[in-house]
Amino acid sequence: MMTTRTTTTAIQPQFLQRMSPRAFVPEALSTAQIEQLVDAARWAPSASNKQPWHFAYALRGDANWEAFSQIPNEFNRRWCLNAGALIVLVSDTEASPGKHSFDAGCAWGYLALQAHAMGLATHAMGGFSAEEASKVLGLPAHLVPEIVIAVGQRADASTLPDDLREREVPTDRKPLAEVLSAGALKNA
Ligand SMILES: Cc1cc2nc3c(=O)[nH]c(=O)nc-3n(C[C@H](O)[C@H](O)[C@H](O)COP(=O)(O)O)c2cc1C
Repeated sequence: MMTTRTTTTAIQPQFLQRMSPRAFVPEALSTAQIEQLVDAARWAPSASNKQPWHFAYALRGDANWEAFSQIPNEFNRRWCLNAGALIVLVSDTEASPGKHSFDAGCAWGYLALQAHAMGLATHAMGGFSAEEASKVLGLPAHLVPEIVIAVGQRADASTLPDDLREREVPTDRKPLAEVLSAGALKNA
């Protein structure tokens, strides 16, 4: 099991240090923190600069928290309800047909790294009810919920149930050579 991530080139440490934990300190984030996170995300590049994204959030315990808590699936609800905030990232299919998800993904990456720089942890979830998200957020058909993001202060892994605690370790990546080709892919 890997405990510390290492790599072979001199990349910025943030790329190795950021990870997606499930143990969060159950304290609400502030609106100012959410604004800072989304400010970073909105500077992501997008096709024709269409910026086909929107971020809807609930702070732990606020008026929207209970409704947002219903959006993640059962597995994710086991841990994400300790987070300081839940953010639903929505993309606009009409603003950028064919590229809305790609661009929203880049914005998520920016948000995750900004959170890391602020000493916060993020964990994206694809496991959620799109129907519930659409209902809670009142989304028209052209706006699709892409992910739910749990964000907050990281807690000690000991706060997790046994099965989740075992998984609270840094993930590895495929070797660089496996995802990089000079010219055509050899074994596609
Ligand atoms: C689009 C997307 C969907 C994900 N869905 C879930 C999820 O539903 N539940 C979960 O526990 N983790 C989820 N993850 C977290 C990934 O499993 C995690 O990012 C991946 O294993 C790499 O680990 P790291 O983020 O710690 O580097 C998701 C991540 C992404 C980007």
